[in-house]
Amino acid sequence: MRVYVSAPGKVTLFGEHAVVYGQPAIVTSIDRRVHVFAEPRSDGAVTIEARDLRTPGVRVTYREGEVTVETDYGLVLPAISYLHKAVEVASSYLGSRHGVKLVVQSEMPVGAGLGTSAAVAVATVAAYAYSGGYELSKDEIARLGWEVEKKVQGIASPMDTSIVTYGGFMRIRYSGEEVERVSLRVGAELPILLAYVEREFRTGDMVRMVRERVTRYPQLYGRIIELVGEVVGAAERALLNHDLEELGLMMNLNHGLLDSLGVSTRRLNEVVYAARSSGALGAKLTGAGGGGCVIALSRPEKMGVVEAVMGFLSEFTMRTSLGSEGVRVEVGEKTGGAALTRTTCLRSSWCT
Ligand code: MEV
Repeated sequence: MRVYVSAPGKVTLFGEHAVVYGQPAIVTSIDRRVHVFAEPRSDGAVTIEARDLRTPGVRVTYREGEVTVETDYGLVLPAISYLHKAVEVASSYLGSRHGVKLVVQSEMPVGAGLGTSAAVAVATVAAYAYSGGYELSKDEIARLGWEVEKKVQGIASPMDTSIVTYGGFMRIRYSGEEVERVSLRVGAELPILLAYVEREFRTGDMVRMVRERVTRYPQLYGRIIELVGEVVGAAERALLNHDLEELGLMMNLNHGLLDSLGVSTRRLNEVVYAARSSGALGAKLTGAGGGGCVIALSRPEKMGVVEAVMGFLSEFTMRTSLGSEGVRVEVGEKTGGAALTRTTCLRSSWCT
């Protein structure tokens, strides 16, 4: 069966890193997606074709008359490893292996901290299972997607794989294998802007660095982690009341705590402070840090100015609407990824 699956990217609004230590976090899906097309192959082989996995960043070094140009295309290989691992995890869960041609395409840059690896993992698990004639529940897809992330990264919380599976706005908390997901009803659009600065470190490196500090100085770093959890509680109330002033304040507080954990960088801080001084109610890094994305909550009438200022200091900016639908599985004739013509939705409850 030919299958077409897509999953959204995500931004963490509050609580990244602290979520790894059992604190709650608030996360939401964005309106950019990863698309995976799967078609069974009769020869049993698994082939992977990556199209348009946008990778940000080009570095040009001039040294003693020599010019070196490096791109972040190295990031494509880790993205492919999520696909490969997803096939392995899904086939071992299903207890059967079949050949498949997988084509992956992304509307977002890979490695920018927008959850592309989780979206690739989740969409590939679903695409592989459905192309072999199996059905999986969202719970199963989220769990297997998390397993893929843990296998590739070493350490991962279920946060990213949960939100890209279910979509919407979510409060998430976990302990061991127990995952508590609460869907949050956020009534109105938020005036949100994203800006990307080149990443200096990978997610796994940042998570390991925080772990070392928490282990070495539990009285200090452990307390910062607990404070982040309290900020998440206050932020949830502000989010549900659509109190933008308070939400902005909580973003600033959360950013300060992330900075004190050591995961911000000079460039991220520059974007954060410039956004605030040009009209944002709040701004913070989002995701693992070490570069990556800044999220700013703008005063609605200041969106243009805030975007221009953030754009000046970053590689690119993006406006996005939040809370889009989670993983979507469809069967039908192949088309060109994002421009897929309508097909049959396998589960009506997933496709509304
Ligand atoms: C990465 O998007 C978020 C972190 O909290 C790591 C994780 O939750 O797996 C830094």
